[in-house]
Amino acid sequence: MFRLNENYLKLPGSYLFSTVAKKVAAYSDRHPEAKVIRLGIGDVTQPLVPAIIKALHEAVEEMGHAETFHGYAPDLGYAFLRETIARMDYQERGCRISADEIFVSDGAKSDCGNIQEIFSADCRIAVCDPVYPVYVDSNVMAGRTGEYNEAAQTWSNVIYMPCTAENGFVPQLPGETPDLIYLCVPNNPTGTALTRDQLKVWVDYANSVGAVILYDAAYEAYISQDDVPHSIYEIAGARTCAIEFRSFSKNAGFTGVRLGFTVIPEDLKCGDIAVRSLWARRHGTKFNGAPYIVQKAAMAVYSDEGRAQLKEQIAYYMRNARVIYDGLKEAGYEVYGGINAPYIWLKVPENMTSWDFFDYLLEEANVVGTPGSGFGPSGEGYFRLTAFGNYENTVEAIGRIRALRQ
Ligand code: MLT
Repeated sequence: MFRLNENYLKLPGSYLFSTVAKKVAAYSDRHPEAKVIRLGIGDVTQPLVPAIIKALHEAVEEMGHAETFHGYAPDLGYAFLRETIARMDYQERGCRISADEIFVSDGAKSDCGNIQEIFSADCRIAVCDPVYPVYVDSNVMAGRTGEYNEAAQTWSNVIYMPCTAENGFVPQLPGETPDLIYLCVPNNPTGTALTRDQLKVWVDYANSVGAVILYDAAYEAYISQDDVPHSIYEIAGARTCAIEFRSFSKNAGFTGVRLGFTVIPEDLKCGDIAVRSLWARRHGTKFNGAPYIVQKAAMAVYSDEGRAQLKEQIAYYMRNARVIYDGLKEAGYEVYGGINAPYIWLKVPENMTSWDFFDYLLEEANVVGTPGSGFGPSGEGYFRLTAFGNYENTVEAIGRIRALRQ
């Protein structure tokens, strides 16, 4: 008789955003007349910009002719894209990253979830709390858990680093030594970021204890403050301790197109073995390359035209962030984030849990957000709204939330 990977049974019944979607669907069934505004999952709403659409059309056309048709893509990505990424995302920022160190994939979520496979099953992980659920869930699936503490909602083998208003959402170095440290900057869900000096502390720490930082920079394009680095490789010493994940979902609207990449420097080694070589082996075995059409579309992200159009798109979402931030603040909420990230993190009223507040907003304002406790125990008492809605809906949603306080 077959047996299951019982680690899966340790997970919550459904992924956070599926739970939210189910609750909203049930509410809409009961109230078909309600005009529900979704500011829950961080999914983009604006169409792909013209430069990307043009690149997609051209690549589709190429696929229709034998002379320009492309089959399997190279599993690490086409050289044209890897070289462009290395130059424009890294070398032009002064980071020493080469095309060989870039691995193109179908998205940062898959890479963040899969990366743990190349590390030993007994590695201890450290995560910020609250945290993007993929980091913990993918390690739970792999059995890196220990015992579950129901009351604290924590795993004994996972080191949680609380990030709350009290510490300015800056994780403190852990008391116990982890092997793998997940950092998401700018942060999902709190919308806050780390400065160069704050990140340097982590790079020095990781190098001193022999840990790897798994650095999720999916929201890098939203950084507006000069002292927030766009890449961990802007910090001296990061080449020997950090892996960086990037996404085209949030900077170019690819949530439905799918593309991302991971950077593993040659200097990141365990003894004599380059970590990069294991990820290359995994990619070669389990992945057949991101589609040619999509990689060509990504090239448009780096063109002058594409860059100008995407700058406007990001400004559009950040205008929403401002509407949410200012509107909630004026309504008397304690509000964070929204300056270097498209997420706003607010404190829920004292007498409510974050799920209570979710129900309250859904029922009273027909607005969907994400309860902070879904991101980890220290997320309790907080709530996340995304700036990825369209402007009119965002203005309306904030108007409705404000009206509840009058
Ligand atoms: C979120 O809402 O946190 C995002 O959708 C996460 C993701 O990009 O997978």
